[in-house]
Amino acid sequence: MSANKISDPAQFGRVAVVMGGSSAEREVSLDSGRNVLEALLARGVDAHAIDGIPALLDALRAGHFARVFNILHGQHGGGEDGVLQGALESLNVPYTGSGVLGSALSMDKTRSKRVWQSLGLPTPKFVALPRGADVHAAARQVGFPLIVKPACEGSSVGVTRVFAEKDLDEAVKLAAQYPGDLLMETLIEGDELTVAILGRQVLPSIHIVPKGAFYDYNAKYVAEDTQYICPGLEGVAGEELRALSLAAFDALGCSGWGRVDVMRDHSGRNWLLEVNTAPGMTSHSLVPKAAKAAGIDYQELCWRVLETSLREGA
Ligand SMILES: Nc1ncnc2c1ncn2[C@@H]1O[C@H](COP(=O)(O)OP(=O)(O)O)[C@@H](O)[C@H]1O
Ligand SMILES: [Mg+2]
Repeated sequence: MSANKISDPAQFGRVAVVMGGSSAEREVSLDSGRNVLEALLARGVDAHAIDGIPALLDALRAGHFARVFNILHGQHGGGEDGVLQGALESLNVPYTGSGVLGSALSMDKTRSKRVWQSLGLPTPKFVALPRGADVHAAARQVGFPLIVKPACEGSSVGVTRVFAEKDLDEAVKLAAQYPGDLLMETLIEGDELTVAILGRQVLPSIHIVPKGAFYDYNAKYVAEDTQYICPGLEGVAGEELRALSLAAFDALGCSGWGRVDVMRDHSGRNWLLEVNTAPGMTSHSLVPKAAKAAGIDYQELCWRVLETSLREGA
């Protein structure tokens, strides 16, 4: 339970808000980070911006900060994949969000799905595609329509829906432009939902209604024509979705805060796609929208995320 609630900002000590970094999602992270910084300052927190992991580690070793608000996104210097978390553990510095295991596992969609499958949690049927795998044989196994994506990217980069075999090679080529293995899974047609988790609180779901075919990079960051309905699903179905999302989050060893992406098919079945352990916090982002619907304004949201850095006994 979040028995950690504190009221005096001085109790947090000096806080490093780490943002930017060297991942593909640098610009989004800078946008998130600037907003978080402003909110924490407005609440009286002694917060400071730091760009990227190397600068953060230098400042920590020099004793400049008591804790870290991690708003880096992505992997390879992105701070969302467990590498930063391991470094902070070794320095004994408290930080927001998931630890090493939850961060690393959530970054890998294929391995996340294997864990869910083993626990009987619903996730679309899939085949992992190591480089050079026979993609046509894999597609026969999964069946059309299907979706091809890099296993460890974010922001919908390299994601393509494939309805017929003739379009398969093109989709694989696009996904293969990104590092790591690929993932092929059944395309779920229906509603796209996302559920934010804050401490042990599951916020109201958001139903994402993109104008185009799916919630692709353009819909996320460029066009302003996506519709967001919150709560996305109410009543018993909404409770089921929220319980499933928390179970999926816990199954991956996640903690603190995060966001679970789900597809709901036309028959009302939910299918887990992925967990984001350092989700966007820009003015357009999803977690702030869900928090708002729960009566939690942006500043209070940032405060509560910062509280997730207070571990037991801290
Ligand atoms: N199995 C699927 N069925 C239908 N749509 C999907 C499926 N997988 C992904 N998508 C679409 O692609 C988007 C990005 O996929 P996701 O797995 O959430 O990766 P990321 O957000 O990390 O790029 C989703 O928001 C959704 O619109
Ligand atoms: Mg997603």
